[in-house]
Amino acid sequence: MNAYVGTPTSRVDGRAKVTGTAKYAGEFPADGLVHGFVVEATIPCGRIARLDTSAALNVNGVLDVLTHANRPPLADNDEAWKDEVAPEKGSPFRPLYDDTIKFNGQPIALVVAEDWETAKFAATLVRVEYEPSGFATDLEGERGSAAETDEPPKPRGDAAAALARAAVRHEADYVIPTEHHNPMELFATTAVWDGGGKLTVYDKTQGVQNVHKFLCGVFDKKPSDIRVISPYVGGAFGSGLRPQHQVVLATLAALALKRSVRVVLTRQQMYGLGYRPMTIERVGLGAKSDGTLEAVTHEAIAVTSRYEDFARNDTGWAEQLYSSPNSRFSHKLVHLDVSTPCDMRAPGAASGVCALECAMDELAVALKIDPIDLRLNCYSDRDQSENLPYTSKQLRECYARGAEAFGWSRRNPAPRSMHDGNELVGWGMATGVWEALQMPVAVRIVLTSNGHAEVSCAASDIGTGTYTIVAQVAADALGLPIENISVRLADSTLPQAPVEGGSWMAASSAHAVLAAAEDVRKELLSLAGKMPGSPLADAELADTVLIDGSIARAADNSRAVSIADAMRHGNIERIAKEKVNQFDEDKKHARNTHSAVFAEVKIDEQLGVIRVTRIVSAVAAGRILNTKTGRSQIMGGVVWGIGMALHEETVMDHRFGRIMNANIAEYHIPVNADVHDIDVIFVDEPDAHINKLGVKGLGEIGIVGVPAAIANAVYHATGKRIRRFPITLDKLLG
Ligand code: MOS
Repeated sequence: MNAYVGTPTSRVDGRAKVTGTAKYAGEFPADGLVHGFVVEATIPCGRIARLDTSAALNVNGVLDVLTHANRPPLADNDEAWKDEVAPEKGSPFRPLYDDTIKFNGQPIALVVAEDWETAKFAATLVRVEYEPSGFATDLEGERGSAAETDEPPKPRGDAAAALARAAVRHEADYVIPTEHHNPMELFATTAVWDGGGKLTVYDKTQGVQNVHKFLCGVFDKKPSDIRVISPYVGGAFGSGLRPQHQVVLATLAALALKRSVRVVLTRQQMYGLGYRPMTIERVGLGAKSDGTLEAVTHEAIAVTSRYEDFARNDTGWAEQLYSSPNSRFSHKLVHLDVSTPCDMRAPGAASGVCALECAMDELAVALKIDPIDLRLNCYSDRDQSENLPYTSKQLRECYARGAEAFGWSRRNPAPRSMHDGNELVGWGMATGVWEALQMPVAVRIVLTSNGHAEVSCAASDIGTGTYTIVAQVAADALGLPIENISVRLADSTLPQAPVEGGSWMAASSAHAVLAAAEDVRKELLSLAGKMPGSPLADAELADTVLIDGSIARAADNSRAVSIADAMRHGNIERIAKEKVNQFDEDKKHARNTHSAVFAEVKIDEQLGVIRVTRIVSAVAAGRILNTKTGRSQIMGGVVWGIGMALHEETVMDHRFGRIMNANIAEYHIPVNADVHDIDVIFVDEPDAHINKLGVKGLGEIGIVGVPAAIANAVYHATGKRIRRFPITLDKLLG
């Protein structure tokens, strides 16, 4: 039955990707295609007093310059601009809507020309006069204005009092800077004018139906007027969850000019989109001298824009991990003159758990106990905020397997005690946690009598491997070789799917495939059962399987009818079934994935150079559908964790409210030379509650815990505790 699920199946789209036949949003051709280049505001707050486009319009090849003053109509109400992942509170940004400037880098004009270079040149000739207003962009400077948002997890006991009287106490601020996603593929849209007002929009997005509904609202179009397609995404990591402004601009220009328009943002312009918000994470931990927790407090202060409240759960993760009779959490926002932050891999957890896990390490040092022992002392078998058991939680096993593979027992706990030649060696560890979510997803299977099946769904594959796991699950469920399965994704006309994010798509799409495949089998049984002398004459659906191109009795696969025979007998060429995944909104269990991360760093103390020489990540995430793509996914998260620990930081000049390092030369990300040994261990975690296959999802868990494990290793190597990320050599030498 499971020829493919659980195996290291290679990506079914691998060949298309490495041969370049896989097309991305900015690559689709169109007759008479023209190109738009975005002009951006250079002040963070105020209004446009005058916009002079005449010099740009005089350039040969320039067709138009769209601004708030001459654009076609755009919706005038927030509802139309709210996409499925927009923050509840606030008023979404509307590109080229009016003369207001809300953030530095805001698009204020689109130059459209016959070719991209001309548009880019002419954009430099657009003259803007501003009426600037006072502004603030510095989170730490504006910390005093932080105000509580939403509802954090319920407090338990009296955390402040318990913290005050704890035998051993640790309290500190950890600062996570603003970070940008920097996917390899630039944000791009090719809006193809199909005549008569209809558009086919090739867009880089994590959700084609989200963009489709959004465009229909913003441009007051019928659903049939616009089709959104995004077959491949070169990384997005959350930056493509909400419709980005280039899709509005390309669509606007196509409607204005009645021709096909492409808008590709530059790397610099990508920094005008969303980002991981800077946060100040204040964590307090109180323990008894025996090393059990008495109190956990965690307050996050995060940046958001003036126009939307973006907030994620940074602080509640201790409720999943560490048993404590008293706890208090809060999430506060500071409104600044910047664009709205957005989700970025493991939003909330990547930052909040980083702080929590550094604090746990500091507490272990204060208690003079091993950091794993501290975590085992307060291991929680329940989600304390809801007081629920887990569908499954093999975190203990993660600690054990990870420690074993890493060689943790050989660690000398004293800081500065381990060396390799001239380098100090540090070993640190941390816990990771994320949610195991599911969403309604519909899948259509069309089985043809030649034993081929097309499986389709509007979900995107953002590089995580959706094409492959959908093909694997379908091949197993239909009893066909994987070569006979073709998967179509990311077209807004396909069966409904939410944005691909939150680590929910693997479990959701896999179970939609199973549900649709069951309907296919049902129809095959009704055909096969009616054949004269059928070996399936009185078979119940539950007693049948699809295997080797046939429908067979589960108990005896030799009693079978081939798909071809059954369909020929029924005189049909194809069976088409569409189904939504069924999942139980089980309120009796908490659902999470977990990990234990172990890091080794080697540090040249004279130079301050830190190398992350080894990472072991032991992950418990239910059944792993594909051990090859799954391992890649975790490795990617680990590499990003190295970036978060040591490299990544968006730097703003607060005198101008402008990002200073909007490029990947000065915004540092890990390169191959920064990445050494990464060992990914999948801990066996059977889960009978979460869904039929016991799948939880791997999209985000890979990054969580990694930065803290590295920071803790840096402390162990040097005796220096750096609480302001990234840990750069100046901080180590300072
Ligand atoms: Mo993810 S940050 O939900 O793409």
